[in-house]
Amino acid sequence: MSGHGPARPMSALASPPLRGTAHVPGDKSISHRSLILGALSVGETRISGLLEGQDVLDTAKAMQAFGADVVNHGGGDWSVHGVGVGALAEPENVIDCGNSGTGVRLIMGMMATSPITATFTGDASLRSRPMGRITDPLALFGATAHGRDGGRLPLTLVGAANPVPVRYTTPMPSAQVKSAVLLAGLNAPGETVVTETEATRDHTERMLAGFGADITVEEDGQSRIIRLQGQPELRPQTIAVPRDPSSAAFPVCAALLVEGSDVLVPNIGLNPTRAGLYTTLKEMGADLTFENLREEGGEPVADLRARFGPLKGIEVPPERAASMIDEYPILSALAATAEGKTVMRGVKELRVKESDRIDAMARGLEACGVTVEEDEDTFIVHGMGPGGVPGGATCETRLDHRIAMSFMCLGMATQKPVKIDDAGAIETSFPIFIDLMGDLGAVFRRENA
Ligand code: S3P
Repeated sequence: MSGHGPARPMSALASPPLRGTAHVPGDKSISHRSLILGALSVGETRISGLLEGQDVLDTAKAMQAFGADVVNHGGGDWSVHGVGVGALAEPENVIDCGNSGTGVRLIMGMMATSPITATFTGDASLRSRPMGRITDPLALFGATAHGRDGGRLPLTLVGAANPVPVRYTTPMPSAQVKSAVLLAGLNAPGETVVTETEATRDHTERMLAGFGADITVEEDGQSRIIRLQGQPELRPQTIAVPRDPSSAAFPVCAALLVEGSDVLVPNIGLNPTRAGLYTTLKEMGADLTFENLREEGGEPVADLRARFGPLKGIEVPPERAASMIDEYPILSALAATAEGKTVMRGVKELRVKESDRIDAMARGLEACGVTVEEDEDTFIVHGMGPGGVPGGATCETRLDHRIAMSFMCLGMATQKPVKIDDAGAIETSFPIFIDLMGDLGAVFRRENA
């Protein structure tokens, strides 16, 4: 079952060479943050290129519930009339964040230092994910959480009436935890300081600076120390959301999987905190070229061209994990068609994503005839070479968009079709995936439920 309707099984069949240009949707992380910071500034924020995936639509609805006026002007153009820091309204109903961990965790941070109460829920995937990593630091500001089963959703958060600023070192590499603390810090008086020992995506820091917050980042080689002065007046912005490198990974890796392919993916965000996959692919020997390197909206971007060619398995170092955390599912599918084994270390955060992504990929790859090894923090895929993966299996997607898209890509290059039990979750981040891949030449078939 998908979170938003009946299951939609689908198969990927051996595909002819993929050719053409893939315009992938807007960045999911930046889209969530644009809506949230828009809601916290006074006046109108204009956003173009917003990702209109279900995750972001759920955040837009939540911002309305907290008092912002969010308007869809069509064609990816949106506006948000914000209420300002410290002026959030109390929602009249439960906030349903659907499948989105980023949505619910950032929104909990946003409201934790306001004297209001809200109850959050989500789909079966989100209700199974840990929220203590967010509610623990929010308690330091003075907020109180009442969650199910040790802090899972549904969860009621009572915001602090008299918040205090916080100094917090994130215990795991998580941009969601860092961002929740920073957003909470916005409405606490004085200075909130967040330290991370591994750099994670820095869109919140960049965007807070863009909205006029007093924020500094100091890097000493061991850690990043982020200092935020509370209770600023945020100034509304005009934001052009760059295209999502995590979505781009699918047509790029599909081109590397399917013999004879040559695909251009324009305008890809290449923020170094997000671009680890491309370093890894290069090390595997991928034929990738970055054309037209430039800066847009404070983020580095380029047009990326991917051509099929032989790949070799490699060791992906643990210190790269945070910069490609969402790309391990598609990397592991690609690794199955490389020569030799690919070893992914330092990846235990994958176990608490929309699904346990190591387990979901391992079981699906095994069903397709691939040998894998795993422990809590490591995932190893034994490559079978181009055309070597048997396929002919049904893979469980577990309400996880990236698992669904990874197996659809793998199935384009297996000996027998690969079926997924439900394509529904793809709507959360890449609603045009099926059509876009079809336009490049992918052969997909809808199956009966
Ligand atoms: C995100 C952070 C990452 C990532 C998620 C988006 C964000 O999660 O997996 O898809 O926008 O902050 P973690 O912070 O849990 O690593």
